Amino acid sequence: MNLKRDAAFANLRQLKNRLDRLTMSELFALNPNRFEDFSIKYDDLLLDYSKNHIDKDVITVFKDLAKAVNLKEKINDMFTGKKINITENRAVLHIALRKDLNSSILVDGKDIMPDVKESLEKMETFVNAIRNGEILSSSGDKFTDVINIGIGGSHLGPEMVTKALKPYHDGPKIHFVSNIDPSHIFDVINSLDPKKTLVLIASKTFTTIETMTNAKSAWKWMSQSVGEENAGEHFVAISTALDKIKEFGIRDDRVFGYWDWVGGRYSIWSSIGLCVILAIGMDNFREFLKGAHEMDEHFLNEPVENNMPIILGFLGVWHINICNYVTRAILPYDQRLNAFPSYIQQLDMESNGKSITSDGENVSEKTGVIVWGAAGTNSQHSFFQLLHQGSEIVPCEFMLAANEHEEGMKEHKDLLVANCLAQSQALMVGRSIQEVIRILKKRGVPHEEAIRLAPHRKFMGNRPSSTILYKKLDPKTLGKIIALYEHRVFVEGITWNLDSFDQWGVELGKELASDMLTCLDESSDSKNKDNNYGEQDASTVGLLNAIKSFQE
Ligand code: F6P
Repeated sequence: MNLKRDAAFANLRQLKNRLDRLTMSELFALNPNRFEDFSIKYDDLLLDYSKNHIDKDVITVFKDLAKAVNLKEKINDMFTGKKINITENRAVLHIALRKDLNSSILVDGKDIMPDVKESLEKMETFVNAIRNGEILSSSGDKFTDVINIGIGGSHLGPEMVTKALKPYHDGPKIHFVSNIDPSHIFDVINSLDPKKTLVLIASKTFTTIETMTNAKSAWKWMSQSVGEENAGEHFVAISTALDKIKEFGIRDDRVFGYWDWVGGRYSIWSSIGLCVILAIGMDNFREFLKGAHEMDEHFLNEPVENNMPIILGFLGVWHINICNYVTRAILPYDQRLNAFPSYIQQLDMESNGKSITSDGENVSEKTGVIVWGAAGTNSQHSFFQLLHQGSEIVPCEFMLAANEHEEGMKEHKDLLVANCLAQSQALMVGRSIQEVIRILKKRGVPHEEAIRLAPHRKFMGNRPSSTILYKKLDPKTLGKIIALYEHRVFVEGITWNLDSFDQWGVELGKELASDMLTCLDESSDSKNKDNNYGEQDASTVGLLNAIKSFQE
């Protein structure tokens, strides 16, 4: 129980009741400075949150809320290496990976920054040697292709960042295998020449069944082509579990470690980012780290009202706990960020999708949010119907670059920008029945028909959205944006008193899947032979039997 937090929530609820008497458009009409009052500019990043149904009193209560949940102290705890992941007794220090390398942070009395520095230098040497052909494949070829095998945090970040920074690629081509579905690895390796391919096995624990199984298949594929004895020349391991790598047989100088204080979904800044570095080079990767560090500084130092992650976090709390909006759409108007919503999905839902507080009690308020989304303008032609007219209100987060990398494509760019701005405007202003009738009649639709059609063509409006605008999708900006979202998730987690850094909710399914495997093994278990599968429930037995009968 946090009475001060509950009091802040009660105040926010009162403000919501008051605000409900006015639409957002009316709030804009009443305050000519609304955009300035409800936007934050930081360097070449702008957060416009003026199209949320709030006013200045809400921001004042946000400040109370920050005090009520001891936000500043909690931020400090994270940045100074306190073991805030209480169920795993670990520090949470992804911020160290992008920090000034001459600074220091102590974990268990040991300064971790020299290790961070050494790891970056080791990666730089290796990546440069691969990119300039000093390290060649077992057949003496330059590595033209790299496969990153990983899943969850060991896949989503590497893939999203690699794709986002395509204009900066001047290294080998990067491919991704994550799913255990054999079609995934099959399609990737079938398009590649093993003699010119480097395989990265990325797994924090080096036990994840999907990654280990895919890695074994990749090893087999490689061995068949270059010989078992040479396969190691084509493999790299990235993990915190160095003992397990040894069992796999990867050469010591091809092993890149990191640390248990880096969570999987926060690991893109560590050696898990190796495929990104191979693609864009170390200088660009350092810019990426720099951008994230700048956001860390902003988060640490700015007061609530001028602090992007805090405002974005409390807006999330406002939407979930006060307005009862249970989902959130991430809408990058930036095709290269098409994988960004999936990345944020893991970051947000694996961090805050929890119902037990850090004190071991049931949560008293809704926590977590269902995150989804896709790049605009494509998504306009799929799910925007629901955003505009559905019965569920979905706060939207638009993302837009002011500049593109492509020259001579102004027509495309202007259309992209116009669509992004138009969508957030449409969500806010809507269109009344009277307006629809007027427009239809002007177009020559008979009165009766206009009346019949109008309810279907009405837009409720008053739907909240924020826009993140940036100069250009370059490495530094991307680093900043990812760090912004990381800290936003942290702010929400602190408000709900969660441990945002464990993920026990993924374990049960993993365990049951391993039991289920025995049901598929016809040879070993006599219980399977009578099609009863031991203790399985009736639905599972039915499905197992149906699968058997469908199998060719
Ligand atoms: O299943 C969830 C999870 O543990 C994620 O948290 C993690 O990012 C992913 O699996 C992959 O784990 P690893 O990097 O250890 O293979």
